[in-house]
Amino acid sequence: MSKLKIENLHVAVGDKEILHGVNLSLQEGETLALLGPNGHGKSTLLAAIMGNPSFTVTEGKILLDDVDVLSLPVDERSKAGLFLAMQNPAEIPGVNSADFLKAAMNARRETPMKLFQFYGALQTAYKEMGIPFEMSNRNLNEGFSGGEKKKNEILQMKLLQPKFAMLDEIDSGLDVDAMQVVAAAIREEQAKGRGFLVISHYARLYEMIHPTRAAVMVNGRIAVEGGPEIISRIDTTGYEWIRDELGIEIEKPVADQPMNKVSIGACATRVGLEGK
Ligand SMILES: Nc1ncnc2c1ncn2[C@@H]1O[C@H](COP(=O)(O)OP(=O)(O)O)[C@@H](O)[C@H]1O
Ligand SMILES: [Mg+2]
Repeated sequence: MSKLKIENLHVAVGDKEILHGVNLSLQEGETLALLGPNGHGKSTLLAAIMGNPSFTVTEGKILLDDVDVLSLPVDERSKAGLFLAMQNPAEIPGVNSADFLKAAMNARRETPMKLFQFYGALQTAYKEMGIPFEMSNRNLNEGFSGGEKKKNEILQMKLLQPKFAMLDEIDSGLDVDAMQVVAAAIREEQAKGRGFLVISHYARLYEMIHPTRAAVMVNGRIAVEGGPEIISRIDTTGYEWIRDELGIEIEKPVADQPMNKVSIGACATRVGLEGK
């Protein structure tokens, strides 16, 4: 069984350190919920794991089994089994979606897939994700709605079959029906034994995919780790208990609300969703 291990990870953007020593590990078959107030480094962690060149790892290790992930370029990290569904997927004009998917799938194989085999897999994936197949002929994410971009990320995950999938606010921009489709796709991959690292502010998604563990990132560090009960605690009471019980002063993020207003707000969302 594969294991992803992050040890004492320090990450900077330019000369500003954002992660100050993150320790976290994830086994295949586990789903880890990563929570935390906005601007505290969650997306930075995933970007550093995947190898986004804007983020510099200044100290620490990322190991996928015994492979030193930090020594690999992004495409090798992907081939090694890491996958990132981005918070804001980029539009790539000039790159046809089907061509992109074919290239990505073939890059993982010794010999290229037969065309009928590829199109079979593609059609099945589009169908399961409820995305019109015509969209495979459009440029990657170009002009896609927020929800279409997010579903398209999950479609890629289904086709690439990573060992570890990291999903960054995959539920933002999704309506209730799309969220059901995405959650079903996640559950299907969970059943195959994938590992998931899932960032969301909303208990609703977590209720659908049942994380096995939860961790909370505060001030660029993991402040607390435990079972999924942490999610419902944050859902109902916000993050203040971290300061009160753990004595961790939550640094006010730039351009964010004061801490007593910071809550993941799932209750309000749930009322909104169920009222639909
Ligand atoms: N590309 C970037 N350039 C400069 N600062 C960045 C960049 N990406 C993230 N940051 C900063 O890093 C901090 C953590 O951001 P982020 O990892 O996106 O937080 P979260 O995902 O927890 O909301 C924030 O202060 C943010 O402004
Ligand atoms: Mg983020």
